[in-house]
Amino acid sequence: MNPTCKKRLGAIRLETMKVVAQEEIAPAIFEIVLEGEMVEAMRAGQFLHLRVPDDAHLLRRPISISSIDKVNKQCHLIYRIEGAGTAVFSTLSQGDTLDVMGPQGNGFDLSDLDEQSQVLLVGGGIGVPPLLEVAKELHARGVKVVTVFGFANKDAVILETELAQYGQVFVTTDDGSYGIKGNVSVVINDLDNQFDAVYSCGAPGMMKYINQTFYDHPRAYLSLESRMACGMGACYACVLKVPESETVSQRVCEDGPVFRTGTVVL
Ligand SMILES: Cc1cc2nc3c(=O)[nH]c(=O)nc-3n(C[C@H](O)[C@H](O)[C@H](O)COP(=O)(O)OP(=O)(O)OC[C@H]3O[C@@H](n4cnc5c(N)ncnc54)[C@H](O)[C@@H]3O)c2cc1C
Ligand code: FES
Repeated sequence: MNPTCKKRLGAIRLETMKVVAQEEIAPAIFEIVLEGEMVEAMRAGQFLHLRVPDDAHLLRRPISISSIDKVNKQCHLIYRIEGAGTAVFSTLSQGDTLDVMGPQGNGFDLSDLDEQSQVLLVGGGIGVPPLLEVAKELHARGVKVVTVFGFANKDAVILETELAQYGQVFVTTDDGSYGIKGNVSVVINDLDNQFDAVYSCGAPGMMKYINQTFYDHPRAYLSLESRMACGMGACYACVLKVPESETVSQRVCEDGPVFRTGTVVL
């Protein structure tokens, strides 16, 4: 561990990570590979809080970990350019560095699943990346993985080939330009499998659908987004309400970003 590039603030880990590679994998969607000691601590479903490498943006930007390679101490992040911060990230190239806080959040619970188990992954748009590590780890344990992904159109489709290595993949597009026309519910409503666990990440509409469809499922998980400031549980900028409570709330950055269905108000 290099003490000059890493320090701990209580439980918060900061590190200057090295950019190993970056490429545009779809229009305005980039995959960046970072290297550093922090990778050892990463789990599927966690996120990194990235400082924008300029003087104009004070707030860090949260981006999910898409895949983890502990042997080479590398992780992949996939992000879409939304505004100024992500536009700056897209200019980085091999040899540059990023100031990273993380890994943040709870991550997906992948425990107690084996070759007898069957899981459903549901992703939408730029919510697909964190599910790649889930598929990789569960497939390695012999778990049967069924994936349903929804995108706006053919140009936005990402990670289909990568996910197909780990199980059956259904792709839907809103405009029917690729795969099955419609949203993920078109496929999911017709599946009669009994899933031991459901992992999902996507736009608010998709998360509401999964929350309702699997409301009472004991192991159905939503990875949620919220505007963040500190990203470490201190400022309460990212809270969600809990059903039937006016006083209790959950912080997406610290208590999430992964929540069981039925446990937060969407
Ligand atoms: C836990 C978590 C994981 C995420 N993972 C990914 C990912 O893997 N890939 C990806 O492309 N995007 C992801 N996002 C969304 C990503 O954080 C925003 O797209 C990004 O912060 C936009 O920054 P910007 O400066 O380009 O946009 P701007 O619109 O200029 O940002 C202005 C401010 O709003 C915040 N903001 C804007 N959009 C969002 C958003 N959707 N969620 C939270 N804060 C937002 C920014 O962080 C910034 O503080 C994730 C968000 C969260 C909360
Ligand atoms: S962003 Fe500060 S508590 Fe979540």
